Amino acid sequence: MFADSPTSLYALVLLGTVVYLLNWLKGSKYKSVPALGPTAPLLSYWGAIRFFLDAQGMLQEGQLKYGGRPFRIATRRYWQYIVSSPKLIDELRRAPDDELSFLDAVNEALELEYTMGPATANNLYHVPVIRNTLTRNLGNLSSEIYDEISNAFADCIPARDEWVAVPALQSIMQIVARTSSRIFVGLPLCRNREFLEISMTYTTDVVKTGLLLNMVPGPLKPIVNRLFSKVEQHIDRTHALLRPIIEERQRMMEQFGDDWPDKPNDMLQWLMDAAEGQEREPRALALRILIVGFAAIHTSSMSFTQALYYLAAHPEYMQPMRDEVEAVLAAEGGWSKGALQKMRKVDSFLKECQRYEGLGMLFLTRKAVKDFTFSDGTFIPKGSYVSTSRAATHGQSEYYRDPYVFDPWRFANLRDETGEGVKHQMVNTSIEYLPFGLGKHACPGRFFAANELKSMMAHLVVTYDVALDMPGEVPRSVHFGPINSPNRTAKVLFRKRRG
Ligand code: HEM
Ligand SMILES: *[C@@H]1O[C@H](CO)[C@@H](O)[C@H](O)[C@H]1NC(C)=O
Ligand SMILES: *[C@@H]1O[C@H](CO)[C@@H](O)[C@H](O)[C@H]1NC(C)=O
Ligand SMILES: *[C@@H]1O[C@H](CO)[C@@H](O)[C@H](O)[C@H]1NC(C)=O
Repeated sequence: MFADSPTSLYALVLLGTVVYLLNWLKGSKYKSVPALGPTAPLLSYWGAIRFFLDAQGMLQEGQLKYGGRPFRIATRRYWQYIVSSPKLIDELRRAPDDELSFLDAVNEALELEYTMGPATANNLYHVPVIRNTLTRNLGNLSSEIYDEISNAFADCIPARDEWVAVPALQSIMQIVARTSSRIFVGLPLCRNREFLEISMTYTTDVVKTGLLLNMVPGPLKPIVNRLFSKVEQHIDRTHALLRPIIEERQRMMEQFGDDWPDKPNDMLQWLMDAAEGQEREPRALALRILIVGFAAIHTSSMSFTQALYYLAAHPEYMQPMRDEVEAVLAAEGGWSKGALQKMRKVDSFLKECQRYEGLGMLFLTRKAVKDFTFSDGTFIPKGSYVSTSRAATHGQSEYYRDPYVFDPWRFANLRDETGEGVKHQMVNTSIEYLPFGLGKHACPGRFFAANELKSMMAHLVVTYDVALDMPGEVPRSVHFGPINSPNRTAKVLFRKRRG
């Protein structure tokens, strides 16, 4: 469009440079917060590249260099501010959404308006359904959750007498997708290959489309989206699979009202009960199911896979969990929510993995939608981002004894020592423990996630032995900017339990 006329291309580049310089001059008013790396125009791109390659190193360096005072890091498009004192983290989580916005930060990274549609991107009615209805039903659903877990493990990971090498992330994701889908849409769809495949690939396609659209100027986004995005196809296919089920349930709702014998008790039904207006359309409901899966499936799979690597690298962690699970199951007479609550070592192990590794190095990321000033005078200009970091929280010795040591029973021991049952559980959020965020937007699915991951770990330790080709070495994690993913290709050895 522009490229056929070199003059207009030069004019465009010139204009871009002028705007960039003006922005930089404006930004120089706010030098009160030190920057890690160069701040000059274009040179700051060096900082952005370094942040993409080594966010962990930069965040640790900033933490040491500025001793807990706020600092900022250049990214490709904005300044990323990092705060770390408890007082500022508390102000960050309390800041209203029309000042420091959670949704705007997510929106910008994932281009939700395109990847989910404008109506959906701004309607979060599924959040209270997850936080309240799903959580309230965990007791009633625990035997279904366990049933799907044991079936899915049997189908995805053989329990033979000799070792079998299994691709870890891929297999765990299958199991998580099936288990979550059992609670989201029920049998038999939760075992439908096509449905599972879409549930898993939707997430990666949204993220890829988001990255692509991030690089395209605003007016071209709709076109690029239409040309390259597979998101619409996923929604269409999910719609086709779900529509007969939704229409059948709608007939029941018309006939019987709010309740009828054998009314399904799953996410789809809770969403149908809560949806209003346009959201009651089968296609909107299908998209909503994909969105819930988006939040649930990759997060839980990555978290569990990381824990699996730590267990396989350290077979000595196995027996204490096995003993605990067997004792609890014997005392409680089988799998239940109550039994899971008594599995302190399993809880502690998963919690420590999330503290030590987790899925990211930044927490509580918010976009400043207007200028924002913290109580200590730290000024965040409109358009920039604020977070706190793993180094500033999970890495602090005020919060954790030997924070850079992986101690699987850290939280179980704290529970025994202090008698504080609730505080040291995996689902508890605090300034010291941020893998699920904190405050208003803290992950509403964490009660379900903890329940599911604990059931999976408990089942795994009583069913299998696990090992790595190279004992002691956890397969290297993969970093993309501040994202931390467990190794995506490593294999773990499984065999039928002997001990
Ligand atoms: C181990 C697994 C999981 C991890 C580590 C995780 C982590 C997170 C984090 C860090 C946030 C943002 C919090 C913030 O910035 O303050 C979040 C939000 C969210 N999570 Fe999770 N999550 C997990 C599993 C789940 C599951 C299973 C579901 C659904 C059943 C879910 C649904 C959501 C939703 C809907 C939000 C957005 C909340 C909002 O808009 O206010 N998550 N999660
Ligand atoms: C859970 O199960 C109990 C007993 O089976 C039942 O009385 C209760 O209504 C159920 N709760 C929900 C939310 O389905
Ligand atoms: C976490 O534990 C602390 C201390 O027991 C408690 O005050 C707080 O309410 C808990 N938070 C949540 C979200 O459960
Ligand atoms: C994943 O782990 C394997 C060893 O199991 C290693 O060879 C590979 O380099 C790791 N991948 C990355 C991206 O670090």
